[in-house]
Amino acid sequence: MEKKSSIFLLFGLLLLFANAVSLGNAVVHSHQFVIQATPVKRLCNTHSTITVNGQYPGPTLEVNNGDSLEIKVINKAQYNVTIHWHGIRQMRTAWSDGPEFVTQCPIRPGGSYTYRFTIQGQEGTLWWHAHSSWLRATVYGGLIIRPKEGDSYPFPKPKRESLLLLGEWWDANPMDVVREATRTGATPNVSDAFTINGQPGDLLKCSSNGTTIVPVDSGETNLIRVVNSALNQQLFLTIANHKLTVVGADASYVKPFTTSVLMLGPGQTTDVLITTDQPPARYYIAARAYASAQGAPFDNTTTTAILEYKTAPCPAKGVSIKPILPSLPAFNDTATATAFGKSFRSPRKVPVPTDIDESLFFAVGLGLQNCPPGASSQNCQGPNGTRFTASMNNVSFVLPSSFSLLQSHQQGIPGVFTTDFPAAPPVQFDYTGNVSRSLWQPVRGTKVYKLKYGARVQIVLQGTSIFTAENHPIHLHGYDFYIIAEGFGNFNPKTDTAKFNLVDPPLRNTASVPVQGWTVIRFVADNPGVWLLHCHLDVHITWGLAMSFIVEDGAGLLEKLEEAPADLPIC
Ligand code: C2O
Repeated sequence: MEKKSSIFLLFGLLLLFANAVSLGNAVVHSHQFVIQATPVKRLCNTHSTITVNGQYPGPTLEVNNGDSLEIKVINKAQYNVTIHWHGIRQMRTAWSDGPEFVTQCPIRPGGSYTYRFTIQGQEGTLWWHAHSSWLRATVYGGLIIRPKEGDSYPFPKPKRESLLLLGEWWDANPMDVVREATRTGATPNVSDAFTINGQPGDLLKCSSNGTTIVPVDSGETNLIRVVNSALNQQLFLTIANHKLTVVGADASYVKPFTTSVLMLGPGQTTDVLITTDQPPARYYIAARAYASAQGAPFDNTTTTAILEYKTAPCPAKGVSIKPILPSLPAFNDTATATAFGKSFRSPRKVPVPTDIDESLFFAVGLGLQNCPPGASSQNCQGPNGTRFTASMNNVSFVLPSSFSLLQSHQQGIPGVFTTDFPAAPPVQFDYTGNVSRSLWQPVRGTKVYKLKYGARVQIVLQGTSIFTAENHPIHLHGYDFYIIAEGFGNFNPKTDTAKFNLVDPPLRNTASVPVQGWTVIRFVADNPGVWLLHCHLDVHITWGLAMSFIVEDGAGLLEKLEEAPADLPIC
């Protein structure tokens, strides 16, 4: 610890002169993120938007595998904030993971905190985002990890690279939107537009001037990194007249496959190669909702960017040639979403854990909470005078408020959480059938599940039809996991085990659990700390669709959580 901090001190001094310091091959990148309100005009209206350094979306971080980052976050906004580095393993550095009240207390207005971590064995596209209330609606950016200096991509070097951050825009303050939903207990208003790199694109009002352009030339093969940074919506994406070859996802390479449409849940990333073999022209890149919940309201707009060939003929003065618009799957096209998800494989045989120590079964879905005693009808505007809620294994997750879970675990502070998160639902039922009303109301609690260091874990993530079934993008912090199978209906160990891919399943950090279906994931608990598992639809986290694992320290020197940094915010 001592040695480490003096090394950081040394870096700090050097960093006065440079932004990135190289020692041999590994580089330490130093950045400052100032969280601040900035006027941003979209859809004809200007909002006081919370940004990083005045940028929306925020700065893209570009690093190489093996590099370290230290990012000083200074909170000049009026809200509490934390930043999460989505998909970064954070080996032994859980203190830098970011989820509010899980690994740290929030950075209060006027406060600051420096996140320090090293990229270990991850290559591709990740991203970062605020992990406090709904701030991530506007506080997010890309995190590009290239191979180590001297290493290369496992595909021909692309001529150009571009990043497409898919986002979601409210013509309102997103913090007010969630506050209102929390007050009423009803569903929050849906967004007014989706965005690509912060721009709604030509099909939305007052938006054509800013439309994102992806410049290309004929005969190139280019890499496009796609991130779903939207708050609450799975998205289809397609590019007119062009095929896409998927080569990576969630900062792991995959066995290349070709498709014309992508589907990403919030949190997921997909890297694709595109060959510019079409007549020089302008082609729309378009994204819109994959909305799997029947009858639930959603934003049905289409966001666009433009793939623009350099040699595209210039339109005569005053004439505007519209780019070619692709057709997108229907909003409820579960078949396309499923086929896409099932195409993912690791590039080669991978070490999937086989002897399982912890076999867990988590039922994930919505619920309705009866109007609490004393609450007014204004606070119970969900269906039939209830409030919307959500749960895993019938527990609706409640964040602590006086200490973070990690602090409480590491310092042995009692009374912050309990360790009785159930390994299976307390009652077994026909999860995807017609669920009895008596099973709709979960209990609230801050329950964690303890894992021994090195435990080999399997989780069946089983969607439920409580209130309504829908696709859930389930994200695990601090880990990548293998997705070894998925299917519809109720998971049946007798017949579905035969479907497990224990050879070359994809490695992901966010699994798209099919609507009225299930997904099975496996990982080895080799990273000590407290790790949140949650649905990456923020509306569902707000309702409690989350739980936390505590992974205990191992015996070895490199199997223990580092000490808490001195500037860790207090609650
Ligand atoms: Cu990208 Cu806890 O999330």
